[in-house]
Amino acid sequence: MENFEFHRPTSYYFGVGRENEIGSIVKDLDKHKVLLVYGGNSCIKSGLLERVQKSLSSAGVAVVSKGGVVPNPRADLVYELIDLGRKEQVDFVVAVGGGSAIDTAKAAALGIVNDGDFFDFFLKKRQPKDCLEIGVVLTIPAAGSEGSSSAVIQKEIDGHFYKCGLSSNFFVPTFAVMNPELTKTLPAYQTACGTVDMMAHVMERYFTNTPEVSITDRLCEAVLTSIIETVPRVLRDPDNYEVRANVMWAGTLAHNDTCGVGREQDWATHALEHQLSALYDIAHGAGLAVMFPAWMEYTMPHNPMRFAQFATRVFGLSMDFEDPKRTAKAGIAALRSFFKSIGMPLNFADIGAKEEDIPQMLKLLGVDSERTIGHFVPLNRDACEAIYKIAAQYSY
Ligand code: NZQ
Ligand code: ZN
Repeated sequence: MENFEFHRPTSYYFGVGRENEIGSIVKDLDKHKVLLVYGGNSCIKSGLLERVQKSLSSAGVAVVSKGGVVPNPRADLVYELIDLGRKEQVDFVVAVGGGSAIDTAKAAALGIVNDGDFFDFFLKKRQPKDCLEIGVVLTIPAAGSEGSSSAVIQKEIDGHFYKCGLSSNFFVPTFAVMNPELTKTLPAYQTACGTVDMMAHVMERYFTNTPEVSITDRLCEAVLTSIIETVPRVLRDPDNYEVRANVMWAGTLAHNDTCGVGREQDWATHALEHQLSALYDIAHGAGLAVMFPAWMEYTMPHNPMRFAQFATRVFGLSMDFEDPKRTAKAGIAALRSFFKSIGMPLNFADIGAKEEDIPQMLKLLGVDSERTIGHFVPLNRDACEAIYKIAAQYSY
């Protein structure tokens, strides 16, 4: 196991009705004016936004609200929020929604207290030195941003969409309110996209070169097997609070790094996928369902035993000791068939992506013969191209 530092100070308020406590939670933090960030209509329709605003006002916390965050969130709205937050002199930022609203809130919290272009931080031109604190009311188990140190924002520069992630301890939310009831209004497709994203967050950590990591291996396997068991139940029985509660907590454990500390992590598939969601404006989870098995097919020969372990422990397949590669391949096939069973796409055609756009994806990815992505197998331009082609040409 590698040395690590692990700092996750988020307080989780989990369960029915907990969003009504947000006023006292913020008040206890000695904050006085909140910038409340949300997405489209879902939290207005469900009455959640109003409940959150009411709880804050009743506790004597002033609120400035702004919605309009879209999936694959854009920098334009972040600039508007930064102006608003500065003008109103807010001292705290709260997101109501999923990864897109949370990441927009994180970026705004950073921009409000730093001069210059906030996107320079995302382009790694400078390092954050300060940030407002962030709170979250989560409405979709998926991105894990409620417990993660990351944010992902998209900006159009010279006609190209750059979808960039930034990781910083400033981005770990101070609190996250998680009421599984709130996820009952999710369309099945969004539930499935969220499922793939959670599984991808675990798998980016699982496929590692670090030896002797049995504790985090087993945690990863537990999160994955629980997701595989519970999500089909959510899809069959959307009003089942108990299964939704398990899925919601799985999404947090998948990405708050409990499963990832002490081990080299990969993250190439996320980088490969971000080009798809940026280019075609598809859901991140849908792009991952197409890319992850393709990445696995390409990298499996590097360590077939790790893939065989995944196949046997996560999907319960039997081990072929004569030919571990057969077991490894069966595990990849099982993952694809799970994704298909929950209504996810499996190739470029399913998401409207085009093979002829691959050169553009590679350019935005910033890879060449020297510059690589990922760690399990460092991938140069040719390797990334080969993986995109597997994803494009996969047929079923
Ligand atoms: O905008 P509204 O009306 O709320 O609708 C949203 C949106 O259309 C809807 N939705 C959310 N909660 C709902 C609901 N609809 C009905 N009932 C509810 N309770 O779901 C749609 C998707 O929302 P979004 O926030 O985009 O989803 P998600 O949580 O999957 O976030 C995706 C974004 O997070 C980034 C992704 O790249 C993508 O931009 N990621 C962020 C990470 C992080 N910060 O750590 C890590 C991830 O790997 C990921 O890259
Ligand atoms: Zn993700």
